[in-house]
Amino acid sequence: MVDYHQIYAEQADAYDRLVRAEDWRGNLPRIINELIPPRCERVLEVGAGTGRLTRMLPHSARIVATEGSEAMLRVAENGLGAARTIGFCTADARALPMRDGWADVAIAGWVFGHFCDWHEASAEAEIDRAIGEMRRCLRPGGTAVILETLGTGTPSAGAPTPGLERYYRRMEDVFGFTRSVVETDYEFADRRTAEELVTFFFGEETAREIGPGERPRLREFTGLWTWTDVA
Ligand SMILES: C[S@@+](CC[C@H](N)C(=O)[O-])C[C@H]1O[C@@H](n2cnc3c(N)ncnc32)[C@H](O)[C@@H]1O
Repeated sequence: MVDYHQIYAEQADAYDRLVRAEDWRGNLPRIINELIPPRCERVLEVGAGTGRLTRMLPHSARIVATEGSEAMLRVAENGLGAARTIGFCTADARALPMRDGWADVAIAGWVFGHFCDWHEASAEAEIDRAIGEMRRCLRPGGTAVILETLGTGTPSAGAPTPGLERYYRRMEDVFGFTRSVVETDYEFADRRTAEELVTFFFGEETAREIGPGERPRLREFTGLWTWTDVA
């Protein structure tokens, strides 16, 4: 069983190597660019990790990247800090240190899905709090974007577990988010790296789905849920 708390606390560099191998086609930056309004000046990122999404956010915007793990945020800061004006801040997604209405866009990538395992009995309430915090921080007319997995090493897109399926349905049916799906397959420099990184984060069963070839690939589907405040 993979211990994600341990990974985010102690293996941030390995996580960063893994996500840098994702989306070899470059689909994510394209779709994020389409979903984020062109005149966006202030972006709040929740659970920024090592900065993989942060790098895709508009360079002209003021960005505050929040994250629960100091170790992950340090990697993000080292990779992005010098080149961009970004505020980095450790914070729990369920209690963000931001004033109401600050952001034009609030974005969270692959964060709240963990609550389904980490807080099994109260997952729904924890996810509601986190989504509520993103919405509180948005200005009227602002946009929230949430990304989550729709399958790693699977032949088609779909929620990998019943808990995630309930979470995704709730975003749509209760919070009014709209889903789009994009392929974000991994491509690795060689087989040894592929097996090392995929096993480390997804486990041995998923590592068996790594494709053949000198630069092996692994299928990944990503869901992007968007909601715009129309009040
Ligand atoms: C799968 S990683 C995604 C990181 C990053 N968004 C990315 O695109 O690579 C999940 C991240 O969520 C963070 N996280 C999990 N629960 C959190 C919480 N309650 N508050 C803030 N961050 C949290 C973890 O520390 C980890 O960095």
